[in-house]
Amino acid sequence: MKSYRKLPTCVTRAPGPYCEEEEEEEEEGRDPGFPALKKTPTLRRQWLGVVVVVGAVLLGGTFWAISLRRLPGEPPGRCSSVPQSQRFDCYPERDAVVTPELCHLRGCCFLQSGSRGGPPWCFYPPDFPSYTLQSLNRTELGFLGVLTRTVKTYYPRDVLELQLQVDLETDTRLHIKLADPHHSRYEVPLEVPPATKKAENPLYSLDFSRDPFGILVKRRGSGVVLLNTTVAPLIFADQFLQISTLLPSAFLYGLGEHRRGFLHRLDWTTLSFWARDVPPTEAFNLYGVHPFYLNMEEAGSAHGVFLLNSNAMGFPTMPPLWGLGFHLCRWGYGSSNQTWETVKNMRNYLIPQDAQWNDIDYMEGSRDFTVDPEHFGTLPQLVMDLHKHGQYYVLIVDPAISSSQPAGTYAPYDEGLKKGIFINNTNGQPLIGQVWPGLTAFPDFSNPETHQWWLENLNVFHAKVPFDGLWIDMNEPSNFQDGSVDGCTSGELDNPPYKPAVLGGSLFAKTICASAKQRLSSHYNLHNLYGLMEAKATASALIAIRGKRPFVISRSTFPSQGRYSGHWLGDNRSEWKDMYWSIPGLLNFNLFGIPLVGADICGFSGSTTEELCTRWMQLGAFYPFARNHNAKDVQAQDPTVFSPPARTAMKGALMTRYALLPYLYTLFHHAHRRGDTVARPLFFEFPQDTNTYALDRQFLWGRSLLVTPVLEPGEDAVIGYFPRGVWYDYYTGSSLQSQGEEVKLAAPLNHINVHIREGAVLPTQKPDITSWMSSGNPLLLVAALSQEGTAWGDLFWDDGESLDTFERGNYSYVVFNVSQNIFTSTVLHCSLEAIYITVDGLTVYGVQKQPQVVTVNGQEIPFSYLDNQVLSMSGLHLNLSRSFSVRWR
Ligand code: NOJ
Repeated sequence: MKSYRKLPTCVTRAPGPYCEEEEEEEEEGRDPGFPALKKTPTLRRQWLGVVVVVGAVLLGGTFWAISLRRLPGEPPGRCSSVPQSQRFDCYPERDAVVTPELCHLRGCCFLQSGSRGGPPWCFYPPDFPSYTLQSLNRTELGFLGVLTRTVKTYYPRDVLELQLQVDLETDTRLHIKLADPHHSRYEVPLEVPPATKKAENPLYSLDFSRDPFGILVKRRGSGVVLLNTTVAPLIFADQFLQISTLLPSAFLYGLGEHRRGFLHRLDWTTLSFWARDVPPTEAFNLYGVHPFYLNMEEAGSAHGVFLLNSNAMGFPTMPPLWGLGFHLCRWGYGSSNQTWETVKNMRNYLIPQDAQWNDIDYMEGSRDFTVDPEHFGTLPQLVMDLHKHGQYYVLIVDPAISSSQPAGTYAPYDEGLKKGIFINNTNGQPLIGQVWPGLTAFPDFSNPETHQWWLENLNVFHAKVPFDGLWIDMNEPSNFQDGSVDGCTSGELDNPPYKPAVLGGSLFAKTICASAKQRLSSHYNLHNLYGLMEAKATASALIAIRGKRPFVISRSTFPSQGRYSGHWLGDNRSEWKDMYWSIPGLLNFNLFGIPLVGADICGFSGSTTEELCTRWMQLGAFYPFARNHNAKDVQAQDPTVFSPPARTAMKGALMTRYALLPYLYTLFHHAHRRGDTVARPLFFEFPQDTNTYALDRQFLWGRSLLVTPVLEPGEDAVIGYFPRGVWYDYYTGSSLQSQGEEVKLAAPLNHINVHIREGAVLPTQKPDITSWMSSGNPLLLVAALSQEGTAWGDLFWDDGESLDTFERGNYSYVVFNVSQNIFTSTVLHCSLEAIYITVDGLTVYGVQKQPQVVTVNGQEIPFSYLDNQVLSMSGLHLNLSRSFSVRWR
């Protein structure tokens, strides 16, 4: 257990060197100290959000098609007058070969143009019947309307009357909901904080069209149309929903989980959303579902559209500090002793490692909550040894529970059966599929009793193997039998009239039947929420068991999951292109509110090479979640198995990560506190610079640290884009002045390029081989001056693992400022931990004239000054809990 070393109680103010000004941390929209910076508008402040809830049924309920087109409207007409760019697909079924007859049966136009995969051949005519707006009344928050349709569509069970609710929730957020007023339907079971007051000065304006019904949302300042639902008919049938819009620009991001560049290509692409176990492949639906898009407009403004609701996104959880250290795993260690050997080798080479993981091979017969006594008999001792060294242990649990052993031999299944916590088939019996242990039942995490059962099993197991974190895999849920061992029904849940273009061609491909019954609703409705619900149960079980911040990494995800877990990007391959794909993956999940994300470093399947793994360890050292994980029966790829130069390069990259942990931890605090991204696309910080819009081979940590990895074999240089301004080499402080241009950087195999943006102060720490050891070391502050000689930065600091430290006030928050040759450290909030941390070094990049005198709190001190304009002071022995100033002249 982590405890602070023999500490007296925290004495604030008197008489010691402790906290001085108790102030609240920065308020929303007010960044303390920011005025010192040259202000570049950042994207966060300019976002406009539109939330569309269609029928409150979405995503696992009725399938919806949202059609997005690029061009502005042109005059409507009959078939031939509809320009190709505005042809909305009237036959979206992927596998169907559409003929003129089939198309006309739907009342649509058939015109063969281009090849398949280009503009649709069967598309809506402008006069295709849609809804009419019958009435529209003002409400406290906005408008309430009634929509009617008289002509049915080609999908069964149209809802002919709809209620439209439009709430102007905040000045930057509009909420639109369409629902069946006469029948209650499944609603996505996420909490939505109620809006209480109508927005007073919305950044958007609204127009409604009556017949056909449509909503037009415009940005007030520029008049840019953000949402225009009139471009294709609105359809609201029991199992098919369609809403359309035109995008004001082609700069479209988000819409996950898919493997694509961060910037989407809009060439008639169909993206499907259905959680699916499959090694990431371009064009297919993957493990999680995130129906959110961000669209850049002109002049650096942006808006986002979230289907469902954005309030339910929930700010991400604050991870424990150790969760940000380096993690090591593989499938196929074979035994606990072999796992232990790897840990010992890492220690011998003094390579940083915070957590060791085990995959399913620790289990007996691949069954959850068991240990293979023959090969993993020493697992409890290994875990004890990890704890003794300030390290942590994470293990895998799969949701599927083995069901075929004799009664009385496997309590998790027997108890589960008794408690009725498994998902049932339509006959009311537990649905049986097949996963690693053989035949399996699937816990229903929409049932609160399942959470209790999960907690009890984890608790009993924790008494044997005191794990610290949990890895929840296979939770799409994955099933090696399509549907179940008995197949699925022939009904409309398993075979809906519109089958989305999902991998495998059916909803039950490699998962359980959509008709299966869960406590809250059908699996049809809840499929995409399985990972979210399991993550919630797992995080709360970990809190109950350990009483500390939970660490959970999940494969399947859904909006709001950042509150409970991080995510890894699944079964990538040990190939160069997979290393590149990880960057769009990181950026997307930061956009989706799950900042704790990383890919399997060095690649999962296939054997890596020393060069690839070296480059990947360097890039992975900058993943918010850094884990090297490997498949079974392939060559080992932990840092200790490589040649001394490769090992040294890997260790160097990890040392840089550990040095930067205070900065990274502070970024996670801001993600937790106000929803900021941690790994950030460049255009979030430079929205006026359109050159940044398509960049996904570089990324930032927060606003100030730019990572430019090598992503190709055989290179000793890399070309990176540097937005206008001064950028400082992180390691040397040498500056680079960019006009907004590409720069070729030296990148020998032992080096990853990292640059600090002008105007930043980064808190760093002398690195050690665990975050626990590092966290007791002195801080070294790095100030990178703007051209006006200013800089700003901050530090959030706490014990690294207690629950809700920010919420309970058990943290320190310190702000750093530079202006007119004076560096100040101001303590805005203080807790015990800060008292025992010293600030030993201050390095200032970009000091243009050699100083003659440097003083700390008025006392002269020695310093060094280098030709590349770097001023350094060391041996300061200042206390973090006490404000101080350093002046040079
Ligand atoms: C699939 C996971 O994606 C992978 O990371 C894991 O190693 C295997 N399951 C075995 O548990």
